[in-house]
Amino acid sequence: MAEDAILGYLATAEEITDSGQLAAQHGLHHNDVVNVIKSLHGFRYIDAQDIKRENWVLTDEGKKYAAEGSPEVQLFLAIPPEGSISKDELQKKLEPSVFKIGCSQAGKNKWVDMGKQVSRKVPHVEDMVKDLLIRVKNGEEIGKDDVNSLKARKLIVAQIWKGYSVRKGPNYAPKRKKVATDLTRENLQRADWKELEFKEYNFNAKGPPAEAGHLHPLLKVKQQLKNIFLQMGFEEMPTNNFVESSFWNFDALFQPQQHPARDSHDTFFLEAPSTTRELPEDYVELVKRVHESGGYGSRGYMYDWKREEANKNLLRTHTTAVSTRMLYALAKQPFASKRYFSIDRVFRNESVDRTHLAEFHQIEGLVCDRGLTLGDLIGVLNDFFSRLGMSKLRFKPAYNPYTEPSMEIFSYHEGLKKWVEIGNSGMFRPEMLLPMGFPEDVRVIAWGLSLERPTMILYGVDNIRDLFGHKVDLSLIKRNPICRLGIN
Ligand code: PHE
Repeated sequence: MAEDAILGYLATAEEITDSGQLAAQHGLHHNDVVNVIKSLHGFRYIDAQDIKRENWVLTDEGKKYAAEGSPEVQLFLAIPPEGSISKDELQKKLEPSVFKIGCSQAGKNKWVDMGKQVSRKVPHVEDMVKDLLIRVKNGEEIGKDDVNSLKARKLIVAQIWKGYSVRKGPNYAPKRKKVATDLTRENLQRADWKELEFKEYNFNAKGPPAEAGHLHPLLKVKQQLKNIFLQMGFEEMPTNNFVESSFWNFDALFQPQQHPARDSHDTFFLEAPSTTRELPEDYVELVKRVHESGGYGSRGYMYDWKREEANKNLLRTHTTAVSTRMLYALAKQPFASKRYFSIDRVFRNESVDRTHLAEFHQIEGLVCDRGLTLGDLIGVLNDFFSRLGMSKLRFKPAYNPYTEPSMEIFSYHEGLKKWVEIGNSGMFRPEMLLPMGFPEDVRVIAWGLSLERPTMILYGVDNIRDLFGHKVDLSLIKRNPICRLGIN
């Protein structure tokens, strides 16, 4: 419709001066006309120039008076033609705003005598305001003074109107030809591409939004943490084995076989394959001995250590299992100091609630060198956590079977205004390091924390199931912002 109107008009006329007028003449919506103009312009059937106009439109109050009459006329009509009416009674007949505005305008116009009694001063009045408003509504021009007075009474406001003037373009035709937008396999087979007219490329058109993958908040925070470790000179440990033997997860860490964490209530054991295939036998012998009777100045746990317990496969409960394997390999080499880190998944047989899942990610760091002290551990922790934006730390004595001394790490949370636990740390015991074969003066300081905790704080997520697992809202992952650690 709009297309026929535009192309048809240009067949005999030089120019359409105003797309708004064309729309009004043909009873079309201006929006539809504009869309057709853009499309015809794209194919160069027409040339279009922007035009802008200031238009007046009625405010809500203006619309009301255009329909019901101006307040001054409503007031005038509410007064009996002969005699008078008391002001109180007149007020009751009208809406409060109509009464108030009506009194002042009708007074100004000298239409009424206002006192305790109100009466008409003239026999008849015209509703000029209503007439003007209706003309504005119909898009007609009105005089400058009238515009100013309606504007002053806030009955009309200016609106920018955008439209086009249109002339013939280089490809003008009274009717649009259908052009092909794609060269298809069928076109080639039928060989009709020779007759087809193809649409020109429009290099200014906006392409469809590129579909891309999106990083999960956990991955973003993980990457930032990796960067921090790398800046501090740490190397990443290979963590690509979720399945681990009890030996590496517990025994090599001097965790006794009766320890409650080794119960199936806390740990997922594997049914198939239920046991590990091989362990380094010489080392296993040394671990067995340190559990049973100690050595290196320790009395050990004094119980019968069982190989079957150590063989059981499980889903690793902490990434310290990886650290243990790495330290064991390191002890076999001529001694060199090392800084290692890992960030990966661990599993615990826990009941799931808003802050716990049966699987989560651990961040772990360790430093292995001669003569390290607890002071070194505290120094490294202060360095590491201040890079995460947590510079106020406190430490509390704690217990781990594999570290002595052990410390829980607390940080002052400015938002929550309290100290919150953020990690666990310690110095690996001689009962763990010496059977591996490290020289006696080698110490290993280490710490661990969860990746989920800082991510939830950074991204304002208060239920862990909104962050990880099958209930996660995918649009949240598309929209979440970049991670900036330590910049608050
Ligand atoms: N493995 C400990 C945990 O799971 C963390 C830790 C790592 C503690 C290293 C001390 C040393 O909580």
